[in-house]
Amino acid sequence: MSAVEYRVRLAGSEAAFGCAADDTLLRAGQRAGLGFPYECNVGSCGTCRFELVEGDVQVQWADAPGLTENDRKRKRYLGCQTRPLADCTIKLRLGQRYAPPHRPQRLQAVLERSRPLTHDMREFRFVLDAPHSFEPGQYALAYLPGVTGARAYSMSNTPADGKTWEFVVRRTPEGAGTRALFDDLTVGQSIAIDGPYGMAWLRREAPRDILCLAGGSGLAPMLSIARGAMAEPQLAGRKLHFLYGGRTPADVCGHDLLQELPGWGERLSYHPAISPLPGGSSEGWTGDVGYLHEVALERFAARLPEFEIYFAGPTAMAMAVQRMLVDAKVPSEQVHFDQFY
Ligand SMILES: Cc1cc2nc3c(=O)[nH]c(=O)nc-3n(C[C@H](O)[C@H](O)[C@H](O)COP(=O)(O)OP(=O)(O)OC[C@H]3O[C@@H](n4cnc5c(N)ncnc54)[C@H](O)[C@@H]3O)c2cc1C
Ligand code: FES
Repeated sequence: MSAVEYRVRLAGSEAAFGCAADDTLLRAGQRAGLGFPYECNVGSCGTCRFELVEGDVQVQWADAPGLTENDRKRKRYLGCQTRPLADCTIKLRLGQRYAPPHRPQRLQAVLERSRPLTHDMREFRFVLDAPHSFEPGQYALAYLPGVTGARAYSMSNTPADGKTWEFVVRRTPEGAGTRALFDDLTVGQSIAIDGPYGMAWLRREAPRDILCLAGGSGLAPMLSIARGAMAEPQLAGRKLHFLYGGRTPADVCGHDLLQELPGWGERLSYHPAISPLPGGSSEGWTGDVGYLHEVALERFAARLPEFEIYFAGPTAMAMAVQRMLVDAKVPSEQVHFDQFY
């Protein structure tokens, strides 16, 4: 991180933080322990928008979809895509729910192992140069060689030793980040990893049984939640139902990883589902067929409000699950997700 640091003040409040010249305002605010609002961290959602009152900034990704033309005209910026060029004053409302349980750090990490889970998903194990903790369900930013901008990936393990952070990544056709991860990065190579981030972490204090809904690469944070829930004594009385959705049987995974956990078959159950495209076949498949939100509704129906619910996956799936949970009258404070963009 650069030794040059600028002061960022929040208009109308006493709050202020230092931001290194090569850091973004959002991440520096988080490193200072402040509840700087955000969600994706990669320029897509617009949650980290702020207004520049005084000072000068540099925008990293000028066309980031998180801002509208109107925002740009009104001197609004994305905290996750903006670096300071001078001391600044910004207009922003902090939110306690965004305050980090662990202040994020940017660390070097060596790729120790990579192995396939399906035809297009791999597990990557990185070892950090210094231990740093995270909550099960959180994500990190990976700076990949030759790739512009960071990519967000959820940890799939628990922070047992602090130094090992594992990820499950699905290859995106033509995707720059996943090409670098799958094709270019080799075991022993090191990259920068910044984290942890995210709000959808395991709530230990919640007294309810747990329902995890994972679609595709949404497996990663849900695995982390399940691994955390099965390991932690505070959660010993809770049951966990894990629903996994893939397009075809070849996309389905997670069974062997969950089967290794204590509580398997007693407190922990796994239900895979497929949702073939029109005309696609489900021949030979013995699990559920349907979209994940439909399968969850069919299996649990009126019991849904009894659960603490975590979900992750592609945008369409996340939106359908969210709508279904609202219709099922699940209180929003029992629902936890970080949208994948
Ligand atoms: C919170 C969160 C958690 C996620 N967790 C996972 C996970 O566990 N596993 C998984 O497989 N995927 C996950 N994703 C999706 C992942 O971050 C990538 O979007 C996906 O891997 C595709 O990346 P790509 O580079 O291959 O594709 P591309 O299409 O090349 O890139 C898409 C992504 O890169 C960003 N981007 C594109 N251009 C720029 C630019 N010029 N500057 C800065 N950023 C740019 C976009 O915002 C978008 O996020 C997560 C996303 C989010 C937001
Ligand atoms: S957090 Fe900055 S656009 Fe999503």
